[in-house]
Amino acid sequence: MYLRNMWYVGAWSHEVTRNPLQRWMLDEPLVFYRTEAGEAVALDDRCPHRFAPLSTGEVIGDDIECGYHGFKFNPEGNCTHMPGVDKAPQKVCVRAYPVAEKWGWAFVWMGDADKADPALIPDYHWLDDPEWVGQGETLHVDGNYRLLFENLMDLTHAKFLHKTSLANDSVTDFPVIVEEADNKVNMKRTMKNIAKTSPLWTKVGGFTEAVTQWQDVTFTPPNNVVINMGVYSAEGTTENKEIEFRILNALTPETKDTTNYFWAIVRNFKLGDDGLTKMAFEANRDAFEEDKWIIAQQHQMMQTIPDAKPVIFPHDKAVVKSGQLLDKLIAAEQDSVAIAAE
Ligand code: FES
Ligand SMILES: [Fe+2]
Repeated sequence: MYLRNMWYVGAWSHEVTRNPLQRWMLDEPLVFYRTEAGEAVALDDRCPHRFAPLSTGEVIGDDIECGYHGFKFNPEGNCTHMPGVDKAPQKVCVRAYPVAEKWGWAFVWMGDADKADPALIPDYHWLDDPEWVGQGETLHVDGNYRLLFENLMDLTHAKFLHKTSLANDSVTDFPVIVEEADNKVNMKRTMKNIAKTSPLWTKVGGFTEAVTQWQDVTFTPPNNVVINMGVYSAEGTTENKEIEFRILNALTPETKDTTNYFWAIVRNFKLGDDGLTKMAFEANRDAFEEDKWIIAQQHQMMQTIPDAKPVIFPHDKAVVKSGQLLDKLIAAEQDSVAIAAE
């Protein structure tokens, strides 16, 4: 069950070209391409003739030609050409999905097209804000997308899973403050005057003395998590008195069992330091590979326990609230669909 009337990241803008790209979203196959004028297009990737993927074909002008028998479809999904037929019947068409490109990502509206409002695109402005710099990529995860936002809303796991990068031995000593407002869940944890921060932040900031580290993580359903984290030196003697990062996470369900995880790590200091950009990206990617590894196994185990009910502990308060908020919004959307059908 997915929240449909939402924007989901379908691709990085640079992935959408004149060559068709197949990508599954919410268990649906889509084909992406670009028109001659550069507009991004997303269509159902199942040709209504005999259901070959349109992505097997090629883009000609603004249309895509199926690679099997040559039916052509325009960006609105209408069939514009059937080989050997004077005029393609109007009723032959595929679904066209609204696409909006922003900050280097191509967002796709997976619900009712007439409800697609670009003002509802989740905020990822850091991706192309001149005050911030960083790098990202897509990770393919063998696990349901819920396991990914649950992973990000309880960062105590870093202590055990990310020992060489994001681990912080003090993290479990500090409680979280969780708030829900405006259909978002926010989790804050401030680790005051801790002897040592994580290996990665120690390396980046050169901290040698006690520091304070904060985590400020916001979940926006259905699948967006923005991590604001930073470290400052209580004594303020180091060159990097304070460092601050955002880790941006858009977790797009591919199928119920797999997720395309679009992410980036960005910072607002040492903007011209390409070596630091590379180092932070690689360290974070290595950590996310560890998440990918454990989530795939967690997902597999959960398949063996129908109606699995997790044990709750205080550090996953934000996980629980995030899941409840998503469930509430999905139920409301289902209710509105049912009422509309009556
Ligand atoms: S399956 Fe696409 S034209 Fe035949
Ligand atoms: Fe992690």
